[in-house]
Amino acid sequence: MLVSATEMLQKARDGHYAVGQFNINNLEWTKSILLTAEEMKSPVILGVSEGAGKYMTGFKTVAAMVKAMVETLNITVPVALHLDHGTYEGSKACLEAGFSSIMFDGSHYPIDENVAKTTELVALAHAQGVSVEAEVGSIGGEEDGVVGMGEVADPAECARIAGLGIDFLAAGIGNIHGKYPANWKGLDFDTLDKIHNATGNIPLVLHGGTGIPADMIKKAISLGVSKINVNTECQLSFAAATRAYIEAGKDQQGKGFDPRKLLAPGAEAIKATVREKIELFGSAGKA
Ligand code: 13P
Repeated sequence: MLVSATEMLQKARDGHYAVGQFNINNLEWTKSILLTAEEMKSPVILGVSEGAGKYMTGFKTVAAMVKAMVETLNITVPVALHLDHGTYEGSKACLEAGFSSIMFDGSHYPIDENVAKTTELVALAHAQGVSVEAEVGSIGGEEDGVVGMGEVADPAECARIAGLGIDFLAAGIGNIHGKYPANWKGLDFDTLDKIHNATGNIPLVLHGGTGIPADMIKKAISLGVSKINVNTECQLSFAAATRAYIEAGKDQQGKGFDPRKLLAPGAEAIKATVREKIELFGSAGKA
């Protein structure tokens, strides 16, 4: 069974650790992440971007696959299936498809429109027990063709959005998706502290979890970050392991690669990445 992310994130906030959101793209990634969360007795959030949803033939397919996999793999830790950076339409589609959590990314709308759309989606989602993440101050970098400018969120705007009944809030604090440039100035902890104080202790979300140094992760958690999103790091480890397997030429005497064997090293690499993140975020044993 899937659960909303609200309770697991409130517990994380109170216990001073963070739950990882790991993005999924296919069956192999999903299986690796679920098995690792179970092995480490950690709650987990599976993130699905709109692009990944389309790739997997739609949100209904994703929800059916994840629900069935949780059951057949005997996963006992709390699992939330979460729309990542959802549009208004995508958020509604995920509510219909059976997701247990959605992120409505209204950060590119004028604040009043972001408020109106977020308010409507909160009412719809909460009526079916689904949690809602909202965003203020777009996250920099490129994700699925969506390019954010990397703003630092305004604490007053964060307070306004947090007051709409959302369950957790993503706020830009200099974090970006993908790899951080060499001249990156680091996370803006001053702003994070102000946002934390202005938003009534709502669990905060840190996007762009790939490549943030461990000490900054720990400090962010101490200032109210309870959910950390990771995608690129899984992509990098999956790609490296798959490339190494192909370069080693382990095909089957001219019959090509057995697709299951071909994807196995990448799946193991994702497990290692997820294990490392769960350790760093402190969520092991918290399920
Ligand atoms: P990274 O790809 O930088 O790990 O960020 C993931 C993310 O924030 C998904 O929303």
